[in-house]
Amino acid sequence: MSAVPASHEQPITCDQLVLLSQQLRDRAGITIDSPHSIIEHTVRGRMAALGVAEIGEYLALFDDSINARAEWLALIDLLTIKETRFFRQPAALEGIAVYLSELIAQGQAPRELTIWSAGCSTGQELYSMAMVIDQVLHLRNIWFEWQGIGTDISFSTLSLANRATYQESDALTIPAKYRSRYVDRVGENQWQVSREIRERIHFFQSNLLHVNSAPDMGFNIIFCQNVLIYFERDRRHWIIDRLVERLRPGGLLVLGAGEDVHWTNTEVCRVSWPGVCAFRKTQEALHNGR
Ligand SMILES: C[S@@+](CC[C@H](N)C(=O)[O-])C[C@H]1O[C@@H](n2cnc3c(N)ncnc32)[C@H](O)[C@@H]1O
Repeated sequence: MSAVPASHEQPITCDQLVLLSQQLRDRAGITIDSPHSIIEHTVRGRMAALGVAEIGEYLALFDDSINARAEWLALIDLLTIKETRFFRQPAALEGIAVYLSELIAQGQAPRELTIWSAGCSTGQELYSMAMVIDQVLHLRNIWFEWQGIGTDISFSTLSLANRATYQESDALTIPAKYRSRYVDRVGENQWQVSREIRERIHFFQSNLLHVNSAPDMGFNIIFCQNVLIYFERDRRHWIIDRLVERLRPGGLLVLGAGEDVHWTNTEVCRVSWPGVCAFRKTQEALHNGR
């Protein structure tokens, strides 16, 4: 991965890379473990794409202009890790099926249910949540309005998420009982999430460090998995607090398995699902959930 500069290329100095790494951390929150090799490789790719020969010329692009903002987003997009898949954490999805079934059985089904995948990458997490919820409604023979949103800092992932079209190998990771109902074969090696699910799902570009840039609404279920690991501890806690603010009373926040954040918040209680890091907002926390 490390970029070996061609003989005519001016090397990127250690100071320049440290500065860029710091700026990336400030803007996206991302901390890259081996910053120099990965950032240098990526920066050289951007310079080649832009036809910029000198590193000084490239760094000078980062002024206060709108073009600078676009370049930051392009660089961040290349540096973020986007790995995801359908039903990545089955225990968390089973958990939300049980949670929703219990609400329905107790006569506490919401009039309208909203779900959020924060750091949704190419959409598989949100579509998995949506399939589980729709299936519960069908099995329980009940109906209420529901919708889901996915947010990510990366425009390229959001465009793929919107297409909702995946290769067969991706679709095959969906358990058969969901696959038969919620994905359609649309071409050679191409599978698309069904229209009934897609119609209820919307994607937005939003940086978790500016949570207010996400749609201003309350949520019954928020998943934020495999994203916070890239943030420093204080920022991680700050973001989780903001997510809790967006939860409706009784709502559920699911973090990545093993992402035990050593974090406490008086408005939530830990949910005891084996292998799942989830919190439920208390019913009393009425002043926050929208
Ligand atoms: C490893 S993927 C996780 C995807 C999905 N949540 C899952 O668990 O399968 C991490 C995602 O977080 C996004 N991300 C990284 N930093 C972000 C930030 N500051 N704001 C919003 N999204 C961010 C990346 O673009 C990437 O798509």
